[in-house]
Amino acid sequence: MLIIEMQNVSWRKDNSNILKNINWAVAQGEHWSVVGLNGSGKTSLLKMITGYIYPSEGEITVLGKKFGSYDLRELRKSIGWVSSSLQEALYVNESVEEIVLSGRFASIGLYDKPAKEDLLQAEGLLEQFGCTGLRKRAYYTLSQGEKQKVILARALMNSPKLLILDEPCTGLDIFARENFLSDVEKIGGVPGSPSLLYVSHHIEEILPVFDYTLLMRDGNIFSSGRTKEVLTESNLINFYGRPVKFEWNNDRPRLQVNTLS
Ligand SMILES: Nc1ncnc2c1ncn2[C@@H]1O[C@H](COP(=O)(O)OP(=O)(O)OP(=O)(O)O)[C@@H](O)[C@H]1O
Ligand SMILES: [Mg+2]
Repeated sequence: MLIIEMQNVSWRKDNSNILKNINWAVAQGEHWSVVGLNGSGKTSLLKMITGYIYPSEGEITVLGKKFGSYDLRELRKSIGWVSSSLQEALYVNESVEEIVLSGRFASIGLYDKPAKEDLLQAEGLLEQFGCTGLRKRAYYTLSQGEKQKVILARALMNSPKLLILDEPCTGLDIFARENFLSDVEKIGGVPGSPSLLYVSHHIEEILPVFDYTLLMRDGNIFSSGRTKEVLTESNLINFYGRPVKFEWNNDRPRLQVNTLS
């Protein structure tokens, strides 16, 4: 089964073409990174996958469900969502445990009474990410790095089939970032894991687990395919239209800007 399939998808808003003729498929078991400059359409692409915006043209199928023919709220329960903007939407006075449990219902705020197994699962996830000691703390008292771990735990409460991470390392220091990335790597490395979709500006965050990469430019797919084939110096020079230096270093990509002129 394909996790995501987009055929000739475009999105127009206020007379501008934000996504243009996107053709893209994500198969089960594939993990993708999505890279592009500010405003290239990455978040719009993710919003379309989660049904917050609709294609102006073309067709999109997510987890086998074609747009317009199913209950979006049900679909969203199979998709985990991690982003730093989510931090602003959550009820910050809730405890860490409540925030994680709310992921079970794909809701902002905890309205339903969690079952015993939900509590156990939340506990297990907090333990997996080294956050057991934070369980009763109010969410707003956490550091940025701790908040992102909690949001990751929240996203996994429903054992999603697709886990979307939109610039999850924003605001993390270099060690917290590596720590977060190693959790992502572990999640993706387990057989039967959710397909990962990882959006970032920072190419060095593309872990070996992301065997596929999509480069977005100006609402178009510039290039997509195997990460090792997409991330090459000549492709990136064309992609950015700037002189950049690119190399692989211990299976992690490294990009340097040569000059800003
Ligand atoms: N609801 C909207 N109404 C009008 N324009 C929009 C809307 N949403 C996005 N856009 C525009 O579409 C373009 C792509 O935005 P998008 O948020 O998808 O980019 P992005 O690649 O996620 O950028 P960033 O890296 O800065 O997060 C931008 O020019 C943005 O202003
Ligand atoms: Mg964005």
